[in-house]
Order: sequence, then C-alpha cells, then structure tokens
Amino acid sequence: AVPAPRDTRGRPMRSLRISVTDRCNLRCRYCMPEEEYAWLPKADILTFDELTRLTDAFTRVGVDRVRLTGGEPLLRPGLTELVSGLAALPGVDDLAMTTNGVLLTGHAAALRAAGLHRVTVSLDTLRPARFRRLSRRGSHLAVLTGVDAAAAEFGTLKLDTVVMNGFNSDELVDMIEFGRDRSAEVRFIEYMDVGGATAWTPDQVYSRRNILSDLSAHYGPIVPEGGPDSAPADRFRLPDGTVFGVISSTTQPFCGACDRSRLTADGMWLRCLYAHTGTDLRGPLRDGATADDLASLLATVWRRRDDQGAVDRLRTDGRRVFIGVESLRRDPH
Ligand code: GTP
Ligand code: 5AD
Ligand code: SF4
Repeated sequence: AVPAPRDTRGRPMRSLRISVTDRCNLRCRYCMPEEEYAWLPKADILTFDELTRLTDAFTRVGVDRVRLTGGEPLLRPGLTELVSGLAALPGVDDLAMTTNGVLLTGHAAALRAAGLHRVTVSLDTLRPARFRRLSRRGSHLAVLTGVDAAAAEFGTLKLDTVVMNGFNSDELVDMIEFGRDRSAEVRFIEYMDVGGATAWTPDQVYSRRNILSDLSAHYGPIVPEGGPDSAPADRFRLPDGTVFGVISSTTQPFCGACDRSRLTADGMWLRCLYAHTGTDLRGPLRDGATADDLASLLATVWRRRDDQGAVDRLRTDGRRVFIGVESLRRDPH
C-alpha cells in the first residue's frame, strides 16, 4: 500500500470530481459556447469499468469523496450502473453528483437506489426568461421539477447559484426562500474566470461581500456556521436558522485547503480547477496498469502538486489569461 501523499503545500488528496461526459444539453453562457464543438469520440471516453478501477486506485491514496459531473452527467447512458459500482467501493464514503437538473426527474429514484448519497442542482435563476437567456436551451420547468424530485427522493439537496452582477443578483432572497421551501441548501457562487467563461469580466462578479450585505439588509444579522474547512463553501446562518453557503473562489480563494482534483471524461487528471494541463491516466489504464501501479503514479504526481489556480488568478488582478479551446472541450465544470 502507498502512504497517503501530501502535496508541496501539505495538502492531502480527498475529493475527486469525475466528469463522466463532456456533453451537455444546455449552453450556459459562463460555461460553453453556443455553437457545437467537437465532442470527444466515444472511444476516448473512459468506460465504467475504467472509471471504477481508477476510482479504486484513488481511494488507495486518500480519496474518500467522489462527485460525478460533466458536461451533464445524466447524458451518460446507464449512469446508474456506474453509481452502483462506485458506491460499492469500500473507500468511497461520499458519492455525490452535480447536475443541471433537466433530466433529473426521470432518474432521481434510480440514482438513489443505486447508492448515490447526494445531489447538487445548478439553478441560477427562478425566472424562465432569464434561464433561457443564460442557458440558451432546455426547459426551466424540467429543472424545477427535477429539484422537487431530488428533494423528495434524497430528503435534502444543494442548489448552486452562480451570481452575476446585474443578471440575477436581484434574486438572492428569492433563491433563499425557494431553497428553504424544499430543504435545499443554497450556495451562491462568485462568477469565475474559468473554462468556457469567455465573456467573463471583473464587473460581472457579484462578490461575497455584496451577497452577505444584501442578505443581511433583508433578513438581519448573519452569523458564520461551522463546517469542514476544505469545502469550497463558507456557510452562514440567517436569524431564522436557514443555512446557506457562499463560494468565493474569485475574491477569497480557498486554495490553501484544497484537497480536490478532477478527472476529465477522457481520462486527464487535473490537479486544480484552473489547470489546463494534467496527467493522462487513460494511457496507463489501457496499457494494463494494475491498481498498485496506478496508485503509485497518483501518489508521485500528487506529491509534486503546487497548484493554487484561484490565488494565482487573483494576483493577476483579474486580468484574463486565455485558457484555450482544448481545456474548454475537456471539462466545463
Ligand atoms: P460539496 O460541498 O461536497 O457538496 O460539493 P462541491 O461544492 O464541491 O460541489 P459543486 O460541484 O456543487 O461545486 C460548487 C462550486 O464550487 C462550483 O461552482 C465549482 O465550480 C466550484 N468548485 C468546485 N471545485 C473547485 C475547485 O477545485 N476550485 C475552485 N476554485 N472552485 C471549485
Ligand atoms: N463561474 C462560476 N461557476 C461556474 N460553473 C460553471 N462555470 C462557472 C463559472 N464560470 C458552475 C455551474 C455549476 C457548478 C458545478 O459550476 O453553474 O453549478
Ligand atoms: Fe451544461 Fe453545466 Fe456548462 Fe451549463 S454549466 S452548459 S449545465 S455543463
């Protein structure tokens, strides 16, 4: 067995985000361009067996939390099978999924039965016309129905809201009320300069400070709520007890405690959300690497990890650095 590695900043590896497909049925403006681009060919995408073997290797070097993302994960045919396989791995303590919710209604029960622990739905607006403008396709009603289906099936869920200045920054209170009615924890996310956010500008960021001041103007004093410090969200409590989160990657990066990495649909392992280069794991997998081989490769790479993408970005003073089409194609989330 390989001892759990620490990176050059002393950070362990705990959380793995797996992109199960690069495809999406929406085209959110902060994520993807409108036009079709070259989706990955099927042969390049890791199979369920490969994903399960890899995840098993990751658990041997510290990973205990796994999140399925995309593109839109529910576009991957038979996803529940993968969920069953991952849920059965002894090292996986937390198995979650981030979805845009469009297809959730038809899948919530089967996902739950297959062993998925938690669901997060991206919901940026409660207004259908805004949803259209932002996401350019898909049904807003389907998303809202999906949220209800997930709430019914899982008892609770998280809602991720990217707050964009002047676009949906007037919906903070509405989102809190909507979430409270469904036992959902709302997390407000600062608009980040990542992936396909090709029209990102600093003035579109609605900061954590603005978010908190708007909410306390409406609800009264807000107090911090504890929680694990490696989580990207800082959690807060309103006077009425409602808990919500703020993910301030843009103005207050949390790289110092970052224990996450991500795997693209075609098997590139990225050590940071902002990274645009990574380690190819598909090659070794298909060349017959054993679980031990993979685990020692992961440990070696992790020990060299010094990424702190959000901190670096802050240092460039919000100045955009072009990330490149290659990275857009690989991992929108
Ligand atoms: P839990 O807190 O475990 O429920 O999950 P999570 O917050 O990791 O999941 P989610 O997919 O909902 O991510 C929420 C937001 O955090 C998204 O907008 C992500 O883009 C952002 N995020 C996730 N991982 C990272 C990361 O490594 N770095 C930065 N800067 N942001 C991240
Ligand atoms: N800034 C902030 N959040 C983003 N997401 C995708 N692109 C961006 C961006 N540029 C969010 C999605 C989803 C989560 C996984 O990532 O809305 O909620
Ligand atoms: Fe699809 Fe999510 Fe990107 Fe929107 S943010 S286009 S739902 S992958």
